[in-house]
Amino acid sequence: MAQILNGSDPQAIHTAAEKLRAGELVAFSTETVYGLGANALNERAVAQIFAVKNRPHFDPLIVHLTDKEDVQRYAIDIDRRAVALMDRFWPGPLTLVFRKRPVIPDLVTAGFDTVALRVPAHPVALALLHEAQVPIAAPSANPFGYVSPTTAMHVQETLGDAVGLILDGGFCAVGVESTVCTFMEEQAMILRPGGVALEEIEAVIGPVRLSSTTQPNRRSPGTLASHYAPRVPLSLIALDAPLPRPRPGERTGLLLLKPRPVEGYMTVEFLSRDGNLVEAAANLFAALRRLDGLGLDRAIAESVPEQGLGRAIMDRLRRAAASARNH
Ligand code: TXA
Ligand code: MG
Repeated sequence: MAQILNGSDPQAIHTAAEKLRAGELVAFSTETVYGLGANALNERAVAQIFAVKNRPHFDPLIVHLTDKEDVQRYAIDIDRRAVALMDRFWPGPLTLVFRKRPVIPDLVTAGFDTVALRVPAHPVALALLHEAQVPIAAPSANPFGYVSPTTAMHVQETLGDAVGLILDGGFCAVGVESTVCTFMEEQAMILRPGGVALEEIEAVIGPVRLSSTTQPNRRSPGTLASHYAPRVPLSLIALDAPLPRPRPGERTGLLLLKPRPVEGYMTVEFLSRDGNLVEAAANLFAALRRLDGLGLDRAIAESVPEQGLGRAIMDRLRRAAASARNH
């Protein structure tokens, strides 16, 4: 079992920072999901992240920084559109990909010559970064391929035996991972939809491309077709499609955007009282984990509109459903 400490206690931050500097792993809250952190400049520490998560080495990590001034230390060729986005959205749920400096170990970037950087908007994450004085490489704190954690208990449940310390910062307000954006080609491209909506990014830098959400992407190997997968087989139905009747004798769970009358389901989760997509994103992973904890035979999720944070929600639901097909 990991020790869970209150992340708003300066002593806890101090303890966690010492551990990071000593090459140990610390799980901590961010505004998106809980991260599994290591000193990004310590290859051995970073290697442990891959081991603990059972993460393939071709999937690069995001490096977290205290502020945008640090970008120059780890990256070169900073695109002016990236600067505009940093000014607007950092600290926040946006990750930007840059050409890397040699100080970032190849293990962090999976051998790519680029590095993904982000300044998180959470007081616990920022306090830890300030105290540790090192950049922190951190993927989501879940076993590779499973649903991301949005509470300290989620981390405890799946990685508690492998991580010494979890800094508790409460329920993650955004609830889906950061948007990953790259400028390596002429047109800016979103590699993973996330906590900053495509529309918000376009309002700052003009049209951006969204990389295919079903094809694994060469530039963002982490976006595998199957991911975020609960153990219960999940199927996704179209927005406003009639709900299938659960098969007799089958324990079936249902995930809806907002409440409506249904019959025959063992349990119903709804993501928002009024269909608000920001609230729905915040509740998504916790709802998937609850469904997964009931020993159901099957779960059905209703699609949500693909606008705003709905894109990130649909991206996660598609991958979660794709995984179920592979079980
Ligand atoms: O919100 C988040 O981003 C959370 C919190 C902890 O900050 N972190 C997170 O990390 O979601 P992870 O490892 O679960 O996802 C990182 C994503 C993957 O899709 C990975 O392929 C992509 O970022 N990525 C990392 N480095 C990259 C690079 N150099 N080029 C392209 N994509 C990269
Ligand atoms: Mg992840």
